[in-house]
Amino acid sequence: MKSTGKFITFEGIDGAGKSTHIAYVAERLQTHLQKQGINVICSREPGGTPLGEILRELLLQQKMHLETEALLMFAVRREHIAQLIEPALVRGDWVISDRFTDASFAYQGGGRNLSLDKLNTLEKWVHPHLQPDLTLLFDVPLEVARARLDATRELDKFEQEKADFFAATRQEYLRRAAEFPQRFRIIDSTQTIAAIRLQLDQLVDELLDSTQLA
Ligand code: TYD
Repeated sequence: MKSTGKFITFEGIDGAGKSTHIAYVAERLQTHLQKQGINVICSREPGGTPLGEILRELLLQQKMHLETEALLMFAVRREHIAQLIEPALVRGDWVISDRFTDASFAYQGGGRNLSLDKLNTLEKWVHPHLQPDLTLLFDVPLEVARARLDATRELDKFEQEKADFFAATRQEYLRRAAEFPQRFRIIDSTQTIAAIRLQLDQLVDELLDSTQLA
């Protein structure tokens, strides 16, 4: 696959606040890129395709064996890459995904303790040559994330997990960020929305500069 578009992922434990910032980044990028006829496409995992959205319902509500959960996450991802991500990148469009493979490492690997070897095998199978160009990791202490979740919504299967699950999930995200510093940027999500936006503006500018599309 020869791709000219960029692939950006947003990550963080539930309640870290990433969803609030996706629309903002997408809009800023679109404003800059439309002169070049480039579209910015927002998607999410699990989900992103009609089949993926059906599987999302099951994944977020049904209890299942840990390996079934991991395999389904990667099955959703395979479909997402085939139907949406690769065709968009080949066209030269940019894709922003609310979660991608780092979430499988963090939740199924860190949170549920599935071996990283198995996750590495699945990653190599499903996307041997694709990695995000940029991953924004929204990081917050567990208590802050928990308070935000409790205040805002009815909790799904993952959101009902206990503190030690999220501690392990967060730790694996931070381990991945340290392992792949060239694509990860950690955002301290205890900051105000305005302060985070300033940081996001800077990241968007850097990204556009690096692709000479500013
Ligand atoms: P999330 O992205 O937080 O959506 P919302 O903001 O609507 O709740 O929900 C997706 C959940 O799926 C989240 O709890 C993390 C989990 N997940 C995994 O466990 N593994 C994965 O590979 C992915 C992509 C998500």
